[in-house]
Amino acid sequence: MRFLPDRESVTAAVIGLGYVGSCLAAALADRGMPVVGVDTDRTLVEEMNRGHCRFKEPELPELIARLAGTPALRVTTSYEEAVEAADVVVIAVGTPVQEDGALLDTQLRGVCEALSACLRPGRLVIFKSTVPPGTTRELLVPLLERGGLRAGVDFGVAFCPERLSEGVALSELRRFPVVIGGWDANSTAAAAVFWEDGLGVEVVPCTSPEVAEMVKLANNWWVDHNIAMANELALVCGAVDVDVLEVIAAANSIDKGNGNINILTPSVGVGGSCLTKDPWMIVHSARERGVELRTVPAARKVNDSMPRHTASLIVEELAKHGKSPAGAKVAVLGLAFKNDTGDLRATPVEPVVAALREAGARVSLHDPLADADDAQKTFGATPAASVAEAVRDADCLALLAWHRPFKELDLTALKPLVADRCAVVDGRAYLSREQIDGLERAGFSYRGIGR
Ligand SMILES: NC(=O)c1ccc[n+]([C@@H]2O[C@H](COP(=O)([O-])OP(=O)(O)OC[C@H]3O[C@@H](n4cnc5c(N)ncnc54)[C@H](O)[C@@H]3O)[C@@H](O)[C@H]2O)c1
Repeated sequence: MRFLPDRESVTAAVIGLGYVGSCLAAALADRGMPVVGVDTDRTLVEEMNRGHCRFKEPELPELIARLAGTPALRVTTSYEEAVEAADVVVIAVGTPVQEDGALLDTQLRGVCEALSACLRPGRLVIFKSTVPPGTTRELLVPLLERGGLRAGVDFGVAFCPERLSEGVALSELRRFPVVIGGWDANSTAAAAVFWEDGLGVEVVPCTSPEVAEMVKLANNWWVDHNIAMANELALVCGAVDVDVLEVIAAANSIDKGNGNINILTPSVGVGGSCLTKDPWMIVHSARERGVELRTVPAARKVNDSMPRHTASLIVEELAKHGKSPAGAKVAVLGLAFKNDTGDLRATPVEPVVAALREAGARVSLHDPLADADDAQKTFGATPAASVAEAVRDADCLALLAWHRPFKELDLTALKPLVADRCAVVDGRAYLSREQIDGLERAGFSYRGIGR
């Protein structure tokens, strides 16, 4: 059986409208494919139907405001409505892990059980959520087949991992090739047409769902590991007193294998919902098969140590100015887990703030992208409404997530507001040499991770 109707009339349902699902639904609808979005979170559905987007992802709020609630992007809590309308059902619900790295499959189970009751012959089901190898074959397809239809016969199935990064999600969705692990050749072919037409991207067909499941875990293993190397490189460069960014830029200038050496950037730490859990997912999967991975835990340990390191740099800078952390004021600019997102999930800024408070510091917080209620819950304090309010009388400015609005800020102009002998500690702003010189001329001291 073919799993797609004529190319011109393909419609999609996107189940799970979190960061990934919202971006995906908006990107598909923006390119002209009618999309129905489904989520069990009634508040989220109601917000989206009003054109409101809770995710501060560049371009996403504008797309949602324009498309949601119109025939281009309908949003509902009803699976029946979505499956009725859609040829292709794309699933992007959350896949957290337990303490030992085992998949917490509640959301995926919920989706498959609900879908199995209303799936129609000829549909193509695409899983985007990150899962351990074997999950599509051993868990998801058997659940879908409970409704009586058979994968590869009555409906198509493909595992197509999502590889976007928050902060640049929409541009990556429109650019990154989509990896396809189809249940059978027809499923792979249908998924290829869907992604080529739907997003205008290339595809990378794989020979099985298991290959595609491993691709996603390999990608995030590489990223986490590479950042761990950059972070350790930063620790040595700090000790040798050379600028780690200068070292990385020059080191990355030669080719190796299929591309250039590409050492990523050190920072205050690795957070978010993916890099903090996907590596443990691969460790658990390997362990279940008798393979004990050593590089993954090592990288995790290095990256998890960076918030404390950043807090210690702040304390050292205060000490250089003859100040004790007890009673000093540290203004944290940027609370999110990385630049250009408001996402506070597993943000490394939280352990920095905790360590500073432990040392007796008064900490003020500001982030133009993070939701104030989320910030209150994560940090136990109300964030300041403006940079000026946050930095008033600060002994240190800690730049921990450097969003686009911050880049327009002239830090030297804050001098009259801050305390005498104020330090700037750069956790993710990567200020240029000129900016650092400007700060020092204005009377600030500067310290970065490995700089
Ligand atoms: N966030 C990222 O940057 C990113 C990047 C690549 C891959 N991923 C992967 O993509 C998946 C989704 O991640 P996310 O960050 O968008 O998750 P999320 O937690 O932001 O969103 C999940 C959404 O699914 C909804 N949901 C839960 N159960 C449901 C059900 N039974 N039916 C319908 N909706 C349901 C939730 O209400 C929520 O809105 C995960 O597997 C994640 O690992 C995430």
